[in-house]
Amino acid sequence: MKLTEKVAVITGGANGIGLAASELFAKEGAKVAMVDFDEVSGVEKASELRSQGLTVEFFQVDVSSEESVHAVMERIAAKWDGIDILINNAGITRDAMLHKLSSSDFKRVLDVNVNGVFYCTQAVVPYLVEKGKGKIINTSSVSGTYGNVGQTNYAAAKAAVIGMTKTWAKELGRKGINVNAVAPGFTETSMVASVPEKVIEQMIAMVPMQRLGKPKDIANAYLFLASDDSDYVNGTVLHVDGGIMM
Ligand code: CAA
Ligand code: NAI
Repeated sequence: MKLTEKVAVITGGANGIGLAASELFAKEGAKVAMVDFDEVSGVEKASELRSQGLTVEFFQVDVSSEESVHAVMERIAAKWDGIDILINNAGITRDAMLHKLSSSDFKRVLDVNVNGVFYCTQAVVPYLVEKGKGKIINTSSVSGTYGNVGQTNYAAAKAAVIGMTKTWAKELGRKGINVNAVAPGFTETSMVASVPEKVIEQMIAMVPMQRLGKPKDIANAYLFLASDDSDYVNGTVLHVDGGIMM
């Protein structure tokens, strides 16, 4: 097992990619704090995973609320005597063409996808420093690296995630903390459910692997970056997108 006794915080862990990661990490021996806004799914999925003998607890929080984030990280660290891994996976979209994009939808996407990553990381870093070792994995996107029609807000946020990743890799490397990003391509979760069928078809046609990603494809990349196998990987953006853009 690759994560025996590690304490892993996975934001957005109650659905989609985060849920696949919660299951995979717990099967690899981690104690998983599934941190999510969605209480209904969080309570249900954490209990399902516990019934398989895995160590998974759900913590309800909105990552865009700084105070709540700090409080929840404190509870997790107190429960399991510290934190080793943070996966900043929670994210939302509010897609619209530029001329139709409201400033409130622009701000909300930045609040969750950028401020949320900042709050969670700032709250967790002291626990990683205490251990002298730690892993932070941020979730960017193919939209953040190449842009995407209808995603001014989301592309801005996911590009910002890359900027923060590289900055923190430089700041925290000397403290034994690796900071990396994963940039998934279009992946089969509820996030792509609202995308028009013809856009999905266009996207699949551009992928050399000729399919969408599956949540487990992305979770596997998180696992590599969270495990000791990647101890000398720092400040990288790992594209897990079937080669859609090269
Ligand atoms: N590429 C090229 N042209 C596109 C396009 C695309 N990806 N998407 C839309 N267009 C074109 C349409 O064909 C249309 O062209 P015409 O005016 O010539 O007919 C024009 O843009 C306007 O499109 P709509 O009629 O659909 O306009 P709308 O205002 O009703 O909807 C939209 C706009 C909300 C952006 C909608 O097109 C949409 O949802 N597009 C998909 C956006 C998308 O890809 N989101 C990704 C979600 S998954 C995710 O975010 C995960 C991740 O990290 C990748
Ligand atoms: P999803 O919608 O299935 O899951 C996102 C999770 O984040 C949900 O459980 C949701 O409740 C949670 N969440 C949303 N806002 C929150 C908040 N304010 N506080 C706490 N939790 C919140 O989406 P998916 O696809 O699993 O997305 C996971 C990450 O992967 C996101 O950062 C997304 O932007 C990114 N991504 C997804 C891609 C895709 O095609 N599905 C492609 C590239 C990146």
